[in-house]
Amino acid sequence: MTMKKIVLMALAACLALGTTGVYASQADDINALRHYFKKKFPTVPFKEFANGSYALSADKRINWESMRDFPPFEDHVAKGEALWNKKFKNGNSFATCLGNDVTKVRNRFPHWNAKDKKVETLEGNIVACQKANGEKPFGLKKGNIAYLSAYIASQANGQKVNVVVPDDKDAQAAYEAGKQFFYAKRGQLNLSCADCHVYSAGMYARGNLLSPVMGHTTHFPVWRGKWAKKKGDGFGTLHRRYGGCNKQVRAKPFKAQGKEYSNMEFFHASMSNGLTIDAPDYRE
Ligand code: HEC
Repeated sequence: MTMKKIVLMALAACLALGTTGVYASQADDINALRHYFKKKFPTVPFKEFANGSYALSADKRINWESMRDFPPFEDHVAKGEALWNKKFKNGNSFATCLGNDVTKVRNRFPHWNAKDKKVETLEGNIVACQKANGEKPFGLKKGNIAYLSAYIASQANGQKVNVVVPDDKDAQAAYEAGKQFFYAKRGQLNLSCADCHVYSAGMYARGNLLSPVMGHTTHFPVWRGKWAKKKGDGFGTLHRRYGGCNKQVRAKPFKAQGKEYSNMEFFHASMSNGLTIDAPDYRE
């Protein structure tokens, strides 16, 4: 028996007994994708994956860099800061629920809530906080929720994503459900998220350069040119983007902050582990 086999068997035994804190499947998924993208894009340094398609095209990057010089979302972040500092009618505030140190909020999400047996997301907890305090909850995809999420995320800029799947079979099942959602074919076009953002990353789909999944969640909420052309102010949450990508394959979008997207976020954000938060950001 080789040494490697022995080590693997010992690891499997640990897992069976539940004595390790790291979920092997998550670690394997991360390593497999890192390896895959390193082979596919050998000249792109790991940290660049946070920049999506702008890491892959010098032309697109020029436009993106000039947008970032005068970001269209500065007012949005300022509005988010005002929301963070505002007191609820009962005297509490978002800090009462999320913690006083705003720099320590973004990177705790998504995480597993063992008591309620569900994945918690930042936006989900923002709304839960409002409900618990008798405030009218924000909408889930744009507007105030995106402003506040952007301010909170901006305060964590420079930190490394580190989504933890704990040693808990329900947490692991939620992660696997999220992974399954990402790899499942759907819609009239019968395409999975992975078809576009793993296997076809770096290729063009109707004029859009497809970004790799690794790094997808580091910079949300985003300001999108496409969203700005519609009603609204260009800004949106990660679950708004999920809905858009479901619609691209002519599938019905799921509910923002519902179980499907929250479980997917658990998997999806894990694939950005080790990359740096840099939010909000501009996208075409
Ligand atoms: C038909 C191809 C296609 C499929 C399938 C698809 N997307 Fe996308 N997605 C796009 C395009 C095009 C863009 C915009 C260009 C880019 O950044 O990749 C995009 C952008 C994104 C972004 C923003 C990337 C960034 O850098 O900010 C995320 C996140 C995303 N998709 C997630 C998903 C998820 C999750 C699924 C599955 C539910 C999915 N996509 C399915 C085509 C697709």
